[in-house]
Amino acid sequence: MLTSYALDFNKLAEVVLAYRSSKPLLVALHYDLFSHIARGKDTPSLLGRGLGLDRRALTVLLDALAALGFLSKSNGAYRNSRLASRFLVDSSPDYMGSNLRYQELTWDAWSDLRFVLKTGKPRRTLLDWIQQGFFTPDYVKAMGDVAREPARDLARRLDWTGVTRALDIGCGAGTYSAAFVERAPRLSVVLLDLPSTLKVTRGLLKAHRHGRRLSFRPADYLTESLGDGEFDLALLSNVTHVEDEKTNRRLVAKAVRALKPGGRLVIHDFVVNEDRTGPRFPALLGLHLLLFTGKGAVYTVKDYAGWMRAAGLGRVVSMPIARQSLHPSTAVVGVKPRP
Ligand SMILES: C[S@@+](CC[C@H](N)C(=O)[O-])C[C@H]1O[C@@H](n2cnc3c(N)ncnc32)[C@H](O)[C@@H]1O
Repeated sequence: MLTSYALDFNKLAEVVLAYRSSKPLLVALHYDLFSHIARGKDTPSLLGRGLGLDRRALTVLLDALAALGFLSKSNGAYRNSRLASRFLVDSSPDYMGSNLRYQELTWDAWSDLRFVLKTGKPRRTLLDWIQQGFFTPDYVKAMGDVAREPARDLARRLDWTGVTRALDIGCGAGTYSAAFVERAPRLSVVLLDLPSTLKVTRGLLKAHRHGRRLSFRPADYLTESLGDGEFDLALLSNVTHVEDEKTNRRLVAKAVRALKPGGRLVIHDFVVNEDRTGPRFPALLGLHLLLFTGKGAVYTVKDYAGWMRAAGLGRVVSMPIARQSLHPSTAVVGVKPRP
């Protein structure tokens, strides 16, 4: 049995040294090393020559990736592990490359923690990032990479009886809309987002087999109307966490206005418990949002239910989503009363 000193020391070391595990992986994805290895460039010489990288440095990196379990090594050549083949090779349907490249970009925002503790604000807000041409495609695809499973689960859990028109506010990669039209055969969805995001979304969904039931509305949800009595269902998925409470209350009221009587508003997000110290993923997301958006935050189910009731919704319920994931989320659903 471990002594309490060893337990405490190990816990400390694990947290402090976590960056030494994540940085090599993020940089490997920056160069798409796992995809190159899958295509046969499986030695430091072959990889280094193709990518213009130093052979010795690459060898040290590949050995570290093997120690982390992403590669195995035999006679100086490397092979992808099962996990790497599933998530880190670009030809896999479960490829997470865009998400990892986005994490590498946000590393810079996290390096500003000392600065933000003094000023309370990041140097660059999410909108500043979105306006950078290089950022948006990876950011949008990154959201799509991690949304596939929760989107399927949310689509499964919602009742689609009589629902023919939905609005996906701040749709990102459109993964939730895509899962909804897969699930509900009579449904069409309007995907609303900023023009720069929607450009990427259209590309991602252009070959979707139900693409005719998806339409796109470029708009700023802060300044433009979301519609008036048009929709059976409106979705705010992972949008409220990028905004402050005042903006969210306005956004919820606008979304309610866009609903038909009897329509439902679904807020889907990562939710913290009442004292905001857990679960671990949303609590750390709160810090990420401070560093990355300046105005975003994580909220409780009580917050969401309160905003919904203040905007006139009734029959508010919450449901857990993607329970098997290390990062489960929650959907809070409210109904617009009929007159
Ligand atoms: C965290 S992402 C969520 C994307 C998607 N709903 C999901 O759950 O994966 C937030 C989205 O809000 C969009 N967004 C941010 N500010 C916006 C604004 N003022 N008007 C419209 N969309 C905005 C971003 O472009 C991004 O796609």
